[in-house]
Amino acid sequence: MKAIIVCTSVSHGNTKKIADVMGQVLQARVVDPQHIDAAELAGYDLVGFGSGIFLGSFHAQLREFVESLPEQRSTAFVFASSGFPDAGMQRFSRPMVRLLEQKGFEVADTFSCRAFDTYAPFKLVGGIRKGRPDAADLAAARTFAEGLRVRLGATR
Ligand SMILES: Cc1cc2nc3c(=O)[nH]c(=O)nc-3n(C[C@H](O)[C@H](O)[C@H](O)COP(=O)(O)O)c2cc1C
Repeated sequence: MKAIIVCTSVSHGNTKKIADVMGQVLQARVVDPQHIDAAELAGYDLVGFGSGIFLGSFHAQLREFVESLPEQRSTAFVFASSGFPDAGMQRFSRPMVRLLEQKGFEVADTFSCRAFDTYAPFKLVGGIRKGRPDAADLAAARTFAEGLRVRLGATR
């Protein structure tokens, strides 16, 4: 199975750290959505989409890229790094999963981990979740990707 990871990581490179670990496991290239043509994704069986979370949403560059995609028939997964968990009524993964499903993807799973967050109110105290993603977060990302690889046979 051929996999690729589309990742926007602009704040501290937090999500890129997660993407790189997942990319190693899945033997997948990690690309910025600004550096890949939407039509190119048709050649992949599994596509990961990830970014930091900004005011409750995935980064606009990633969302706009997904919105621009033609109808797909492959499998996707969604991942994020964020100050706060993907939980409760305000689950940030849900709109992205819905958008991908509208594009025809089957969304296999979602992953998120805590990460250094310098959103304005927290900047005053030097940010929160310092040092994250840490080794345990990267190990969790690896385990997540290994699970996908086993379930979907996602290696070339
Ligand atoms: C302007 C701004 C808004 C943010 N909004 C949220 C938010 O709504 N929820 C959250 O959990 N984290 C929020 N964060 C934290 C980021 O999601 C977190 O730092 C993330 O790891 C950034 O990813 P990146 O370094 O890959 O860009 C915000 C950070 C900034 C700078």
